[in-house]
Formats: sequence, C-alpha cells, structure tokens
Amino acid sequence: MRRHLEHPFRRPVGERARAQFAALAAALEHDARPRVLDAGCGTGASTLCLARRHPDALVIGVDKSAHRLQSGQRALGAADAPPNALLLRCDVVDFWLLAAAADWRFAAQYLLYPNPWPKPEHVQRRWPGHPVLPALLACGGRLELRTNWKTYADEWCRALQLANVPWQVDCSNEPQPISPFESKYRASGHLLWRVQADSAFRSATG
Ligand SMILES: C[S@@+](CC[C@H](N)C(=O)[O-])C[C@H]1O[C@@H](n2cnc3c(N)ncnc32)[C@H](O)[C@@H]1O
Repeated sequence: MRRHLEHPFRRPVGERARAQFAALAAALEHDARPRVLDAGCGTGASTLCLARRHPDALVIGVDKSAHRLQSGQRALGAADAPPNALLLRCDVVDFWLLAAAADWRFAAQYLLYPNPWPKPEHVQRRWPGHPVLPALLACGGRLELRTNWKTYADEWCRALQLANVPWQVDCSNEPQPISPFESKYRASGHLLWRVQADSAFRSATG
C-alpha cells in the first residue's frame, strides 16, 4: 500500500476506455451537477437507488460486465427511472485513472460489495491494495465501502490510515439495502461492514 501511495500507477489505459471516457466527459462538459460514482455497480440497481438518494447529483454507475449492466439499462428506460443516473461499461481501474488525470472530483464514491478476491496472494486485486488506490483517492469525495468481509473493511481502514485520510467503520444497519449483494447478504444474516471516509480531508503529506 505504501509503495502504491508513493508511486503513480503507470498502466496504459486501453483505447476503448479512453474513447468512452472522452465521450462521457464531452457530454458532461456543461453539466455542473455534483458527480457520484457507483464503482462496480453490477446490474446498476444501486445506481438507480443512489440517484434517488442524491437527486441533485449525477450518479454514474461503472461496471465491466455488459451482461450485468443489461438489466440496469432496461431499468433506466422505465418511465419512473430517476433522470440523474447513467451506466457505463468500463473497467473501473481505467475509469479512475482517466478521471484522476482529468481532475474529476466526485462528491461521493460508493464501493458496494466489491469482488473479495479472498486469497492472501490476491491482496493487490482488492482496492485497498491495488495500485489504482492513489487515483481513486485523488478523485476525492466521501468514500463509502460496504462489504460482508471484515478483512476487506480492515484493509480499507489501514490503507486510508497510510494515506492520512480519516475514516470510520461500523456495521451497516440500513433498513433499506442499496444493492442486490447487500440484499443477498443481509437476507443470509451476514454482518455488513461499512467504511466511510472523506478524502477531501487528506493531508498535504498524504
Ligand atoms: C460482487 S459484485 C457487486 C455488484 C454490486 N455493487 C452489488 O453490490 O450488488 C462486483 C461487481 O464488480 C464488477 N467489477 C469487478 N472488477 C471490476 C473492474 N475492474 N471494473 C469494473 N467493474 C468491476 C463486477 O463485474 C461485478 O458486477
């Protein structure tokens, strides 16, 4: 984590992601609404839910799975869909790198039940240990990570501590789950962990 925080991630971004991000940035050029990111949004159900919770913001759901996004795209077409949600099929690693390079600042970023990659050797695939972490933090805003795996929450707290970003962790007891995975784990009686942070408070040395 320290190494990633000290050295920029230089992975080249694919042409497809570059073109998608450029099209999105052009479409939003005159859009002054605060932006909220739903990273790894799956079907996009959480994106629609967040759009209803943040009616003054534009909520952008990003996922790499076309299959999962299909149902979200259908839901976005419904008459009662919130007008302030959009879904993008893109690798969110590329998205964070491009957004950070373009100086985008999100009002909030949600990371709801990311793939756990549970083996010890997978640590660099989990977002707190991933080389994209500095770009993610540079995109700013209030961060909210939810997971049913305490180790993942602990790793986030450690990464945020190393990056000098104040955080708090608790068990999420929201009466209304935000995402399908949250619903599934809640129904199975899992403890649901929530890490919240505000990367705007990052210190100058962070
Ligand atoms: C466990 S699912 C959670 C989906 C949703 N957030 C929820 O809580 O119901 C993890 C999602 O992250 C997406 N994902 C994983 N790695 C990704 C990446 N690098 N870029 C974009 N999406 C990614 C997967 O396609 C999948 O839809």
